[in-house]
Amino acid sequence: MTLFSSFSSYSANFQTIAGLYFHTTQTFYFENTIFECFEPSLMAKEIKKIGVLTSGGDAPGMNAAVRAVVRASIYYGIEVYGIYRGYDGLINDKMEELHVRSVSNILSRGGTFLLSARSEAFRTKEGRAKAYENFKARELDALVVIGGDGSFTGADIFSQEYDVPVIGIPGTIDNDLAGTDYTIGFDTACNTAREAIDKIRDTASSHDRLFFIEVMGRDAGFIAVNSAIGGGAVAMIVPEHNWSIDQLIKRLRKGAANQKASNVVIIAEGCKLGNAYDVAAKVKEQLDYFDIRVTVLGHLQRGGSPTTMDRVLASRLGVAAVEGLRDGQSKVMVGVINNRITYTPIGEAIKTVKRLDDDEFRIAKILSI
Ligand code: F6P
Repeated sequence: MTLFSSFSSYSANFQTIAGLYFHTTQTFYFENTIFECFEPSLMAKEIKKIGVLTSGGDAPGMNAAVRAVVRASIYYGIEVYGIYRGYDGLINDKMEELHVRSVSNILSRGGTFLLSARSEAFRTKEGRAKAYENFKARELDALVVIGGDGSFTGADIFSQEYDVPVIGIPGTIDNDLAGTDYTIGFDTACNTAREAIDKIRDTASSHDRLFFIEVMGRDAGFIAVNSAIGGGAVAMIVPEHNWSIDQLIKRLRKGAANQKASNVVIIAEGCKLGNAYDVAAKVKEQLDYFDIRVTVLGHLQRGGSPTTMDRVLASRLGVAAVEGLRDGQSKVMVGVINNRITYTPIGEAIKTVKRLDDDEFRIAKILSI
């Protein structure tokens, strides 16, 4: 650790003296400690002013990420502008300088104080040209985009069209981005869903009912898997798998034969079998002895104060985004893999399909008897 600190500060000093910029290129090990090796990049331009925006579906912890970007920037002597309502704010020049105190008391708040949007205008060449005009007029050197894959697709195109340094911070409850083990907001959403499942179970077991609970995730089953295991569901149906109604019926029959007190089935939105109401209707056709109810959790999962996990993740990623830009990183998404900060090319992060962990299904099956 001592060696690491002195190596880091050596890099920082060298950066100032020689006016060179560094990026992480190699990792080496010394006495069981991992060290990053910084190498100078003569290509990178000094970052003096950056813009930060939140885009796409809001996620708990986005505020914590903005706070970290703002404070880390100021710590390193970089001016930082908050851009309002995602890319629309860049197109319409809705931005203002943020200071250390501009981000006071937002760490614990859900949503995003910078507001968010899924910008239609930014999908057009004209919209991006307008955005670049404002980017230049404001003398910004780089952009930090906090969002999900749709937002990163926009960031990728923009940075290629105008050669703008861009760094992405993964903020979505869906956890569907490769290049990071977890996205900001996922843990909070899972906890919210699990808490709802716990409450529904109280009433389910009082009435001996079968509940189908639909959770969000767009076309990914991460929230479903986590909340199903955490909430003790008898089964979970996710878009990534081809579970049939017959398999579900078999699982439910087995539970009934084993005198299961209450039954909760988690359905992820985007499932091939349909939504929770469709699945419930199909099950009812074959198992008419179950008293069935359906709950769709919906946007409830997007709100609320971020968990400690999400606050810490957002804080780490926000600082790493600013440090990455200083080190010459661009067109990358910052993430955490095996508890280490990583930078993945944005294109790779959005194109690579993040797989669910098969072992979690095995565990869920074992525990559902
Ligand atoms: O991407 C986050 C998410 O909440 C998805 O889980 C969901 O499918 C979608 O956004 C809902 O989008 P909107 O808020 O635009 O209805």
